[in-house]
Amino acid sequence: MCGIVGYVGGKPALDVVMEGLRRLEYRGYDSAGVAVVHVGADGYRLDGRKKAGKLANLEKELSERPLPAATVGLGHTRWATHGGPTDGNAHPHFDSAGRVAVVHNGIIENYAVLRAELTAAGVELRSETDTEVVAHLLAAQFEPSGRDLAEAMRRVCGRLRGAFTLVAVHADAPDVVVGARLNSPLVVGVGDGEAFLCSDVAGFIGHTREAIELGQAQVVEVRRDGVTVTDFAGVQQEARHFHVDWDVKAAEKSGYEHFMLKEIDEQPQAVADTLLGRVSASGKLVLDEMRMSEDELRSVDKIVVIAAGTAFHAGLIAKYAVEHWTRIPVEVELASEFRYRDPILTRDTLVIAISQSGETADTLMALRHAREQHARVLAICNTNGATIPRESDAVVYTHGGPEIAVASTKAFLTQLIACYLVGLYLAQVRGEKYEDEIKALLAQLASAPEKIAETLGRMEPVRELGRALKDEGRVLFLGRHVGFPVALEGALKLKELAYVHAEGFAAGELKHGPIALIEQDLPVVVVVPPPSRPLLHDKIVSNIQEIRARGAKTIVIAQDGDSAVEAYADTLIWVPELPTLLQPLVATVPLQVFACALADAKGLDVDQPRNLAKSVTVE
Ligand code: M6R
Repeated sequence: MCGIVGYVGGKPALDVVMEGLRRLEYRGYDSAGVAVVHVGADGYRLDGRKKAGKLANLEKELSERPLPAATVGLGHTRWATHGGPTDGNAHPHFDSAGRVAVVHNGIIENYAVLRAELTAAGVELRSETDTEVVAHLLAAQFEPSGRDLAEAMRRVCGRLRGAFTLVAVHADAPDVVVGARLNSPLVVGVGDGEAFLCSDVAGFIGHTREAIELGQAQVVEVRRDGVTVTDFAGVQQEARHFHVDWDVKAAEKSGYEHFMLKEIDEQPQAVADTLLGRVSASGKLVLDEMRMSEDELRSVDKIVVIAAGTAFHAGLIAKYAVEHWTRIPVEVELASEFRYRDPILTRDTLVIAISQSGETADTLMALRHAREQHARVLAICNTNGATIPRESDAVVYTHGGPEIAVASTKAFLTQLIACYLVGLYLAQVRGEKYEDEIKALLAQLASAPEKIAETLGRMEPVRELGRALKDEGRVLFLGRHVGFPVALEGALKLKELAYVHAEGFAAGELKHGPIALIEQDLPVVVVVPPPSRPLLHDKIVSNIQEIRARGAKTIVIAQDGDSAVEAYADTLIWVPELPTLLQPLVATVPLQVFACALADAKGLDVDQPRNLAKSVTVE
């Protein structure tokens, strides 16, 4: 939520900041703004531009009212929390004298008290945001801090409550950019004679792949020749360097109309990369980021999966596989609900936190609650060094590369792979499965990239269907067993991308209420389990007949050669054969393509749907 870029170096700061904002716009797009420190007639000055709406509005503003050349600057692309998406509420925010500029991600919970204090002291606040108070507080602390912006930031942070990333510049400290973070992301990019402060590495990947992770409650000062990290008390902290293992091309559309289309197509590779290196020469499953001992894993008596949105759906599928393979009971809980219901956790509970970004506030807070209760936490994450893996006892990284489109696609499939691997690993360690059974399942997983690629090769009729249904106001999705979370995921994709009222149901629940929704020509997508599970399969074939008899237009996703469904499908989408537990790896793909095509046909912004942001860093 909110993209932040700060830059100090030798390049034109505005170009660097705008390029970073373009790459981070997926984090929020309610407004955007920039500020630069430049040399004026009477010394250093600070100037900025900001505009409501997408970055394109700011670009237009900058072309009409250019900013002076500068080599220090910052920028922001906003997902609004306090104050509507107006020009005035857009970041950066400035102090009254226009010497300090601040951008912010997160929520300052005690801003009302601080605002009242500033107002009482005669400061005139010009926006409705929580952020503006920081600009005024920094300005007030600058002189008492010996004109040291980092020290001023530390003093101000000591007064703030909530979750925040802050980046600031000061016209009287013209060679530094200062940042701070508490429960909100910020990464340092280290280049040759230049440095960056960004919400994530995509903001500087065009310039450097060398980065520094920041811990919680730290302040960072970047200059052309170095980086200093301290805690809020000013005690110097060790800088943890890392190398970003993907390059700028991964964060570009590379000829695709939308990032989402590119990311859908990248799924076979992303799945293959996530599977890579997991099997030893002797055929044993190895998870080398698993920092928990085999004894600890053997003592696990309950697993609780916590996640949000698409990652939650991956968790629901994991339950079927992990329980089946390990016989350990698995609960799956929305991260945003978890800590409010006093969950029963012990030292023998394994909590699995699934998050693409590794920064989702709901999941992070749930994870912290679990650790406070002495549970062990294993993170499944796509972002190296993010807060969730950093605060976990063990990590399994998915290797999906950057996911830029707001709608999760390759993250979902790679999360499924990671969940399957964790399940099989637990089964191996606990002796719940024979070696050859695990090998057979791993071989089936190894065939997934090819099967996903095959599915992608068949998507033209699905795109056509999406275009044909562009005026539909409602679509239902049904599934059974692992097909149920797939149905939920299909509905979520359609809601978030096409603003269509879509619901996913367990097909067996139909007759307990939702069947009343069925009316003439209502499109209903049904995910059919493979015929190799006749008990499941035959039940859903009956469900299809029941809705068809009531006028529904049935769109059926079924395994190649499943002739039993043919007679009841108005549209049939074939997917390649995989065992039931792994079928979501192929069955989800048409639903992603369908939602994308339908949204595109409606002329909607596929990569940046309204009201959303990629990484939800506020609760
Ligand atoms: O980064 P995370 O995996 O923690 O994000 C969780 C959800 O916010 C995310 O999956 C969201 O539901 C997607 N936009 C759905 O496409």
